[in-house]
This record gives sequence, structure tokens and C-alpha cells, in this order.
Amino acid sequence: MSSVTVASKREHRVTTRSLLRRKGASEPFSMLTAYDYTFARIFDRAGIEVLLVGDSVANTVQGLDSTLPVTLDEMIYHCRLVSRGVRRALLVGDMPFGAYQVSPAHAVASAIRMVKEGGVAAVKLEGGTAQQATIERIVRAEIPVMGHVGLTPQALHRMGGYRVQGRTARGRERVIKDALAVEAAGAFALVIEGVPARLAQEITARVGIPTIGIGAGVHCDGQVLVMHDLLGLSETAPSFVRQYANLGLQTSRAARAFAADVAARKFPGDEHGYA
Ligand code: KIV
Repeated sequence: MSSVTVASKREHRVTTRSLLRRKGASEPFSMLTAYDYTFARIFDRAGIEVLLVGDSVANTVQGLDSTLPVTLDEMIYHCRLVSRGVRRALLVGDMPFGAYQVSPAHAVASAIRMVKEGGVAAVKLEGGTAQQATIERIVRAEIPVMGHVGLTPQALHRMGGYRVQGRTARGRERVIKDALAVEAAGAFALVIEGVPARLAQEITARVGIPTIGIGAGVHCDGQVLVMHDLLGLSETAPSFVRQYANLGLQTSRAARAFAADVAARKFPGDEHGYA
């Protein structure tokens, strides 16, 4: 592919429609989480197709043990920061726990706030059959929905921990039913988290919308990682993560070097001051 083709491909905005066309493509697409302007800009310019303002902001940025406490207002705030850095990627905002479970009407109101105040093009929510009516209502309000099945962190207490789902025959049926319900409700894409690779492969073959895997093997139409895991900023990362940089170590080294220079009066130098 020539550099001109690559450049023009990069400039086209990724939309829910263009993502749908990636279903079954030989080349999977990538999605990363982002929580602020700086990283959103870097990921967008690097050609990442989908940016997700994940409720994982609770763990990565807020230092919480679960995603349950993060609020709709906080999610909207982070969506707004990220939206300022996005030119090309499809921007998806995660609906936090409590923002869509009460009723479909309440969910539509929350989703509208994510779009109007947060600037996202689509919302993501967790759950399958239990959320089918809710997804339908949000889609009817002209807001595209990305589903999320398998290991759904907001169901932490039902699952009894962050456990791989779909390992038993019953669990497997449940995840498949959930995936089919999300598609039937009109979602444009589906995150499959924490399930055996063979199950994700089967779901990917059965649904007509792109699947995006995280801890779900190589057969999905796309892959997603939490940016702190990708960049080596997490204290611990799950075994399915590949760390592509060690910014934690580099940042620590930079901070120590700065402190040492300050202590030794090696910083600032003459070139860093005003005459
Ligand atoms: O919140 C999040 O980061 C997510 C991804 C793991 C898909 O939901």
C-alpha cells in the first residue's frame, strides 16, 4: 500500500457504519481506552480506530478497586477531555453502573447526556438479555450502542470476582444468548471480555456485528486493551495483556533524575532561565 493510500485512509473518520464494514475482514481493528486529551490525541494520530472512555477510569485514574463507584458526571467529564483530542477515531463512552439499570427511559436520558455533554459518538454498556430492551431504546433514540458480554466488571458481585466466563456448558450458553440478544437489540459492535478463545470465535462467527476481544483470543474482529496495561502504567496487569512500553519505569526514572539534578543544583541550567 502506498504512503498516499495510508495517509488518506488515516484521514477518514471512523464511524459506526465504517466499523460494521470491518466485520469478517482479514485485518482486525484496534480499540484502546483513553481518559484524557493528551493520550487521546496520541492514540488518534497513531491510527487507533476506536477510543473508549472506559469506566476502567475508576481503577486506572481514580485508584478504586472496582468500576462500581464511578459516576455519570465523572464519565462525562472524561469523555469531554478525550473528545478534544480525537479527529479520526470513533469515540465511545462507557455507561457507568447505575446510569442504565434503573429503566430504559433512564438509560436513554444518561446516553443523551454522554452525547450532548461528553461529545461521544456512541455509548457502551454491559449485559446481554437483561439489557436487550434498554439497548433497543437507546438505539431508537439515534444513539449507537456497543454491547459488552462475558466478564462484565460491573457484575462483579454476581460473578463472585473477576472470573473467566463461559467455561461450563451453562455459562457458555449464557454468553452466547447474551451476545445474540445484544445483536438483536441493534448494537453496532460487541465487546467480548474474559471468555475462552473458542467461545469468542463461535460468537464472532454467529453474529453479524464486529466483535472486539479482551482476554478472548485472536479470532475477534477487533482487539481492545486498557491503555495503562498497554503502556506499563498499571501496578498489576491480567495475563492476557501484552505490555508494549514501560512508561511506569521511564516516568519513575525521569522523576528520580529530576530530583537528583535539583538536589545537586544541576537543574535549572543557564539555558533554562531568563536574562
Ligand atoms: O472500561 C473498560 O476499560 C472496558 C474495556 C475493558 C472494554 O470496558
